[in-house]
Amino acid sequence: MPTPRTVAIDGPAGAGKSTIGALVAERLGYLFLDTGAMYRAVALAAQQRGIDPDDGPRLTQLAGEIKVAIGPPTVRDGRAYTVLLGGADVTWAIRTPEIDRIVSQVARVPYVRDVMVEQQRAIASRGRIVMVGRDIGTVVLPEAERKVFLTASAAERARRREEELAARGDKRSRQELLAEILRRDELDSKRPVSPLRAADDAIVVETDGLTVREALERVLQVIERRPIPS
Ligand code: DC
Repeated sequence: MPTPRTVAIDGPAGAGKSTIGALVAERLGYLFLDTGAMYRAVALAAQQRGIDPDDGPRLTQLAGEIKVAIGPPTVRDGRAYTVLLGGADVTWAIRTPEIDRIVSQVARVPYVRDVMVEQQRAIASRGRIVMVGRDIGTVVLPEAERKVFLTASAAERARRREEELAARGDKRSRQELLAEILRRDELDSKRPVSPLRAADDAIVVETDGLTVREALERVLQVIERRPIPS
């Protein structure tokens, strides 16, 4: 069966989009683009310049000035890709709790989104890509051949995030992480521009109780249009 040339994976924070998206891309031999990393790089640039995450006009100006690029890993330290901000490697700097806290505010500024979406479409125009985010199936690539909406309960997502951070030596309470996830869900799904939602033609994949392997298999079933066993 011919494989689709563009795969859109959307869903809330912590649903496993990056992990599953990277594995799907590897399996298909496609490029992987995690669009959340681009918004995180803008948030980092704002933080470095002391810009308030609620200051729309300054964020708009910032988005026109900075250069964000994502490419293949340049260091073998467990990263799936390298993120550059003005040429500097910020791959890990965009993963701090402070960036987690401000990124949803930065991502709701319309011009910030315009700049990022234009870059995302340019990258996708070459085809053979798995793109993950919040608005890929609805706004960035409405013509994507396959659309998956990956989700899990907030409690499950908080549990996974706790594990992921602990593996990096960062101990955070589950309660705090759950509150953070619920706050981001609210901001991402209630914003006026490109809110988080499943495209009408997306297939929803619920990953509560599934291992990474099982979730990957489920998503590949959707992409390859294999029947999903009940
Ligand atoms: O997937 P993530 O947690 O790295 O995304 C960080 C933030 O970026 C998230 O809170 C919402 C925003 N985002 C977005 O608005 N649109 C996308 N396509 C991807 C991410």
